[in-house]
Amino acid sequence: MLKLSIKLIVLCTFFIFQAKISSSQTKGNIVVQKVEHIINPIGIDVQHPRLSWLWNDSREGVFQTAYQVYVGEDSLSVLKDEGQQWSTGKVASDANLVKYAGGELKPFKKYYWRVDLWDQSGKIVKGDVASFEMGMMNQENWQGAWISDDSGVEVKPAAYFRKQFNPSKKIKTARAYIAVGGLYELYLNGKKVGNHRLDPAYTRFDRRNLYVSYDVTEQLQQGDNAIGVLLGNGWYNHQSTAVWFFDKAPWRARPTFCLDLKITYEDGTTETIITDKSWKTNLSPIIFNSIYTAEHYDARLEQPGWDTPGFDGSKWKDVVLRAAPSQHIVSQVMHPIRNVKRIEAKSMQKLNDTTYVFDLGRNIAGVSELKVKGKEGTVVRLKHGERLYDNGHVDISNIDQHYRPTDDKDPFQTDILILNGKGENTFMPKFNYKGFQYVEVTSSEPVTLKQESLIGYFMHSDVPVIGKIQASNPLINKIWEATNSSYLSNLFGYPTDCPQREKNGWTGDAHIAIETGLYSFDGITIYEKWLADHRDEQQPNGVLPSIIPTGGWGYEWGNGPDWTSTIALIPWNVYLFYGDSTLLLDSYASIKKYVNHIDALYPSGLTTWGLGDWVPVKSKSPVELTSSIYYYADVQILSKTAKLFGNQQDYDKYTALASKIKNAINQKYLNKETGIYGTGLQTELSMPLFWGVVPNELIGKVAKNLADRVSTDNFHLDVGLLGTKSILNALSENGYADMAYKIAAQEDYPSWGWWIKNGATTLYENWNIESASDISMNHIMFGEIGAWLYKGLGGIKPDPEKPGFKNVLIEPHFVPGLDSFEASHIGPYGEIKTAWKRKGKKVVLNLTIPANSTATLLLPSQTPKEIVAGTHVIEWE
Ligand code: BGC
Repeated sequence: MLKLSIKLIVLCTFFIFQAKISSSQTKGNIVVQKVEHIINPIGIDVQHPRLSWLWNDSREGVFQTAYQVYVGEDSLSVLKDEGQQWSTGKVASDANLVKYAGGELKPFKKYYWRVDLWDQSGKIVKGDVASFEMGMMNQENWQGAWISDDSGVEVKPAAYFRKQFNPSKKIKTARAYIAVGGLYELYLNGKKVGNHRLDPAYTRFDRRNLYVSYDVTEQLQQGDNAIGVLLGNGWYNHQSTAVWFFDKAPWRARPTFCLDLKITYEDGTTETIITDKSWKTNLSPIIFNSIYTAEHYDARLEQPGWDTPGFDGSKWKDVVLRAAPSQHIVSQVMHPIRNVKRIEAKSMQKLNDTTYVFDLGRNIAGVSELKVKGKEGTVVRLKHGERLYDNGHVDISNIDQHYRPTDDKDPFQTDILILNGKGENTFMPKFNYKGFQYVEVTSSEPVTLKQESLIGYFMHSDVPVIGKIQASNPLINKIWEATNSSYLSNLFGYPTDCPQREKNGWTGDAHIAIETGLYSFDGITIYEKWLADHRDEQQPNGVLPSIIPTGGWGYEWGNGPDWTSTIALIPWNVYLFYGDSTLLLDSYASIKKYVNHIDALYPSGLTTWGLGDWVPVKSKSPVELTSSIYYYADVQILSKTAKLFGNQQDYDKYTALASKIKNAINQKYLNKETGIYGTGLQTELSMPLFWGVVPNELIGKVAKNLADRVSTDNFHLDVGLLGTKSILNALSENGYADMAYKIAAQEDYPSWGWWIKNGATTLYENWNIESASDISMNHIMFGEIGAWLYKGLGGIKPDPEKPGFKNVLIEPHFVPGLDSFEASHIGPYGEIKTAWKRKGKKVVLNLTIPANSTATLLLPSQTPKEIVAGTHVIEWE
């Protein structure tokens, strides 16, 4: 038994912050103010937006005792503490998120706001002026018509649209609002508007369409102006054919859009340029585009200046008016997809005069950009893949097996570029992305390429980074990086399984990865959007499809509670990480419908509905056990949510149902004598522990059995997708962190480390890297390890009693094999950090807890200790 001593030294560093507005009163400042979880957003559609702030103040034990929010139309008066639109008065509260409850917010109006905080000594901290701007708010506020060209769904080339106009007076501000069925790029006077990619995000287009808002003041000019729009197919008009029948989606149609460009003149008058019959259209050089496969571009068809004033569009055709894809057109208030990282090729192999293979050195989701010179009509093909054959050519056989092409014109992950012979051609697809590390460039005529000729762009929803892990074992750092790369490769306005073979919003993969995502990235806006997709897809009887959104596939396969529990697990985790119950509230009725449906089908409390422990190492646990556990987790969440919202009747009902399910599971699968579930596999033992199914008095015994099992398995994994979520946590939460770490840091098969040792820069779909099937090399479904590093080693966990890290549970594990470990996460109150390091026999733990929050510190063999905000150095022996 270790003799323990704990010494707590509180270091309180006083930073002198420059208070930006006035005042000598403050020691801290408010560094981030968000509306609907975005900084200074435009295009807000809700009448009661959420306003939140983050207060940066390193004084020990500092907390907020009151706040006052001011909202007004005029920034100066907001600065002068006047909130004509809303002033909360001084509210005695430590909240850092409030719902706007002032006078009616008007469409298109810009509002300014700020917040004052009071600390416990009565000092005021003054916030900066921030803003938010309303969007359409109401369908009736659209003035434009939905337009398209008159082509059918089978027509391959993407269409251009243009309109010229001349603003009548001096422009003060201008906003563009564009709603699209399909994908678009918007141009003003020859320049692309904004830096988003693949907008708008994929939704169930016949139920809900997203529009995007831009401030385009700077891009307009006095005199003639031209607007250009290029439309791509995206998921709206899927022309490629694969086993999920995207081409049969009920909404499928030729892409269409509606645009309102609102100009406010210096004199206060306004004018709106809208889509109508005055627009002209023509086909573009993008002769084919598929979000799923690739893009084809014929540079000979370029029409320079098509999006500038003065272009001769006399040969262009009239547009046609179309029905809106749905009656529900809402603002896309979300971190957009972007070309986030530019990646230079690490090497290039010239195989012959017409064949070059580029290696980016890492696997990504995104596109490549090629610069190439050649004879007019030369056909250049860029085949993207994750691995190479021995002969150096790109091998896509691991990712094209669900593709069902009807001819050879649409090769998988292969862009096609036809050169125009006019100097260097540059090509990067606009309406497609791929999963790849290697690009094989072949040409119909010899071309000369250099390593610099090709650049990769890592694309994903550009969610801010809010977490960091640093371990003394480099392997752990690499696993964490690979996990993040796979997480981001699978975040494109909705979470996907893989960026190459499917791009499907597989529900199971997403709930496994939810914590991994939320520890490292500020993903709330993506998940709120995706749960709206869930509501669009849910059948009246509660059933959800296994992939969301879907063109129809997935209502009968793979959609049991082990996958579609996303409906409960995602909102619950968002609540835990953000302390914001909005998504839970929005999802409440859907969770209830879902749970009621399973209850009606499986009155015993046990359900066999599900896929089970997908792609396991070797052993497969009973589906009834694993699915019933997920069903239990959902009902638990429902009962806790009912309590949170004060719904006593539901609370009673679902608490009783949860305990019925738990008893049924334990009755059938738990041997109370031995403490073994089923046959005692890793998944069978770890899932009941992790999901709270084990009766209290048997937790120790079951955990011991799990530890024995793991040791019999020689500290290697024997789990699939479901067990991967629970195995490390079940061990570290029950006294076996050392063992969890041994598994996590394993370097041979089967393990995460085995992938890394074999060159992986992303997570794979299969523990067996030689597997003939299910071997995408960029899957997030085994990605819980990312979250576990924060929890099991760094020990940072949200406290369900005080969510949003209002109180942080700090429970680090100083495992053998690591000399130091650091984890940090920026929660709603600021940066939480644990950094521990061995010093002789001691461990020194540096702990940072942000202002206005607290922590409960639980060190091995210690009683829990309450910790205040500030920086603390703790020695543990
Ligand atoms: C996907 C998985 C998914 C699974 C469900 C696969 O094809 O890639 O990640 O969860 O199907 O069965």
